[in-house]
Parts: sequence; structure tokens; C-alpha cells
Amino acid sequence: MTSALPHVACMSPYALADMAAPEGIDLVSLSQNESLRGPSPRAIEAAAARLFDASAYPDPDWSALRNSLAKLHGISADGILCGSGSLDLIACIARTFAGPGRAVLAPAHAYPFFRTVAQMSNARFDTAAETECVADVDALLDSVKPDTALVFVANPGNPTGTCITRDDLERLRTGLRDDILLVIDEAYGEFADHFADPCWNLVQGTNTVVLRTLSKAYGMAGFRVGWGLFPPHISNEVRKVMNPNNVSAPSQAAAQAAVLDQAYMKETCAITGALRDQTIEALRLAGFKVLPSVTNFALILFDSESAAQSADASLRAKGIFLRRQQGAGLPHALRMTIGPEKETQMAISRLKSWHKEHSA
Ligand SMILES: Cc1ncc(COP(=O)(O)O)c(C=O)c1O
Repeated sequence: MTSALPHVACMSPYALADMAAPEGIDLVSLSQNESLRGPSPRAIEAAAARLFDASAYPDPDWSALRNSLAKLHGISADGILCGSGSLDLIACIARTFAGPGRAVLAPAHAYPFFRTVAQMSNARFDTAAETECVADVDALLDSVKPDTALVFVANPGNPTGTCITRDDLERLRTGLRDDILLVIDEAYGEFADHFADPCWNLVQGTNTVVLRTLSKAYGMAGFRVGWGLFPPHISNEVRKVMNPNNVSAPSQAAAQAAVLDQAYMKETCAITGALRDQTIEALRLAGFKVLPSVTNFALILFDSESAAQSADASLRAKGIFLRRQQGAGLPHALRMTIGPEKETQMAISRLKSWHKEHSA
């Protein structure tokens, strides 16, 4: 029998949300940080129009989408690579720069996929302590080893929802050795754009990549479109390991139309931000510890792992799915995506009942 490579055989499959509502109960998913509303109607229209030429391969250079992204963000289209979601780009970066004898470093409560891609590449995965669930630049710099090749920082972080400043990112870049590739994953960047300076210019002349996605603020997770700004010496190498034709033609068309409809995306961010702040306040008033968040989700910290498990079970019994965070080193936490108002209120009300039952 064919056996997998040893480093693959000993990996666990990437843990996606486990959602099985009790029979007869509608499922409420607040577990995958998808947008509380769908894509711009213009994106749907653009995708539908492309279905008629589906016999042709998509543009392998994503030219129209790249040009629209470049114009919007004031960056060079040549530096942009697109992926089938930013997961695709994260995996391609690891495939290119991580491997045996090289280590990948990330904050302790980082997005678990960073660990997965290190394992896929047979590289060591190191973590740096965080301070109150915020990435800590000094700890990251102290954790660099002679074989550190790649540093991933999601900013804002998932599952923490917290953010570090542009100055901190600059300090991180300056403190890292020049030969270390720094990947700043801004999957939730649009939610934070109104107060965080975009950090595109960190990419110029350094080993730095900035990633974004259409899956969150643009409400397009099902289309699978991610993108990033890369310096040329990095993008030239990453392109070699990418699947050609990785983003379907309807997805490219939808993404371009969505990028051109900024008003819709900004409205989604505003609705989400208002509901997120109300949710955090309501949960704190009910006695929960909830981290501040600049994203479309909030992280609830319980006193113990068993308390998080009990609250999760109580929600699941009603068909409401949040997400446990053992994979991010936070077994005592539950992450709640800010979903549509009705579903979000159902979760708040269930959590409040759980709290009453357990604080007596
Ligand atoms: C921090 C972070 N990066 C990347 C992704 C991947 O997003 P996608 O592949 O849908 O673009 C996610 C999705 O949850 C995320 O939270």
C-alpha cells in the first residue's frame, strides 16, 4: 500500500467548524466569520454574466481584478497575486519558503492554519507569547531562531480580534533579519481600515507580504478569492508553486465588481461594527469577559475550559454554533461571529441564560 510522507501521515486534518444541529432545529452558524450579509448585488450580477463563457479557462493573471485592486489601494498591479481564498496564498507561501531545517513563527494565539501550513511543509512551528491576546512584537523578536524563515502575523488577529498598530508592524519588520519573510495577514483589514493605516508601503524593498481576502467584509467566502501585495523577488518564486487558473472566471468577475462597489462593502463594515459593539456590551453587562474586537467576531473568555465547553453545549442544544478555540491555544474561549441580527440576538440570549444558570 502507498504510504503518505511521514510528516503528512502524522498530521491531523485541518479542523473546520463542526456543525450538526439537533434534528428538527434550524442551524444558526456563527462559527466561520462569514459576513452577516451576502455579496454586493453587482458582484452576483457580474458572476452570473460569466457563466455563459464557462467553457473557457479563467484569466491566469487576474488582470482586471488586479488592476481594480491596485487602483483602489494606490498600489502596483504588478505586485498583486490572487488565490483561491487567502488560504491558497498562505499555503503557497509556506510551500515556497518553509521546509525541513526552516522554522515558521507566529503569535501564540494565531490563526491555526499557520501551524497547518508549517506542518504540511515539514517545517518546525514556533510561537511567541501574546500579551492579553494581543500579538507582542518584543516576544516575536525574542522568539526568532537562526533557522526562522517565515513569520506570520494576522492583523487583526483571528481568533483574538485584536490589532497591533502600524508602528508596531514597522518595528517588527525592522527588528527581523532581512532574510526572514514577514507575512501580514489582513483578512479582516477592511473592518479596521477606518482607524488603522494601511501598511502597503512596508512591502516595498523588504521581505514582506500583505494578504487580504474577499471572504469577510465583501461577503464572498463562497467565491474563494484572496489576494496579496508581494515584492517581485517573492511573487516570482510563489507563482512557481501556484495552481494555474486558480480563481474561476465567475469569481474573478464577482470580485472585481465587488471591489468597484466600495459603498456596499463599507456599509457591511458599518452594520457589522455597530452590531459587534452592541453584542460585546450586552455580553459584558451579562457578566462575560469579552476581548475588544476590530473585526466581525468577538472572543468570549471563560474561567475554565469546562465552562467554555458547557456554554458551547448549551448553545448547540439550540442549534447555535459558535467556535471553540483549542487549536489557537485558547481552550477556555468561544469565538462568536457577528451574524445577522436575529441569529446574533438568539446567541446572546442563550449565553445570558447559560450565565444565569451557572453563576448561582
Ligand atoms: C486570519 C485569517 N486569514 C485567512 C483566512 C482565510 O480566508 P479565505 O481563504 O477565505 O480568504 C481566514 C479565514 O477565516 C482568517 O481568519
